[in-house]
Amino acid sequence: MIRLETERLLLRPMVYTDAPKIYEYMQDRDIAYNTSLIPYPYPVGAAEAWMEQTWEQAASRESYTFAVVLKAEDRMIGSMGIGQNAAHNRAEIGYWMGKRYWGQGYASEACRRVIQFGFEDLGLNRIQASYFTRNPASRRVMEKAGMRYEGVLRQYVFKWGEYIDLGFCSILRSEWSGPTA
Ligand SMILES: CC(C)(COP(=O)(O)OP(=O)(O)OC[C@H]1O[C@@H](n2cnc3c(N)ncnc32)[C@H](O)[C@@H]1OP(=O)(O)O)[C@@H](O)C(=O)NCCC(=O)NCCS
Repeated sequence: MIRLETERLLLRPMVYTDAPKIYEYMQDRDIAYNTSLIPYPYPVGAAEAWMEQTWEQAASRESYTFAVVLKAEDRMIGSMGIGQNAAHNRAEIGYWMGKRYWGQGYASEACRRVIQFGFEDLGLNRIQASYFTRNPASRRVMEKAGMRYEGVLRQYVFKWGEYIDLGFCSILRSEWSGPTA
């Protein structure tokens, strides 16, 4: 049962009682629009099926997906996950926040803590994340969390009838300056 804390946030495994909140947040098309795997419209039962999958992946240490909880309100506001590629000692981070919580630094704060988890607890050498180039806020999250821009794979994703460029950011263990306040 991994729990990570920051000044304002608690990152913990998801629980079934998070499902109604996830369903509510996913009614906003803007979340699915900028992610590869989230369906829209979001089906009833999808949140429960997704969290069950994350529990299995955590048990096999393949990936860790956290509910991001605002400590002051004990409210689940989004999710952040880190999936490992053990052969290469690297991992990829992915995330979303409920739209009403955007622009308050929560994703960057959670991302910084998950990077710390990746280097300190998982012993990784490299942590990367990718974003649709039409979504500069996500690149900004990565850069605020300490990653640097690496480049773009052109028309890499086909989603909802269009080809989308995928930008990449990463941080290496040798570049990581340790946990920050
Ligand atoms: C991307 C997302 C997670 C950001 O969450 P957040 O909690 O608002 O992020 P933060 O507040 O920590 O940081 C966002 C940064 O992007 C900046 N930003 C927002 N819109 C921007 C834009 N159009 N262009 C450039 N920067 C932008 C914000 O100003 C902020 O930077 P600042 O603190 O330097 O001002 C959220 O928008 C989201 O869930 N989007 C839908 C799903 C998604 O895109 N997931 C990521 C897939 S890779």
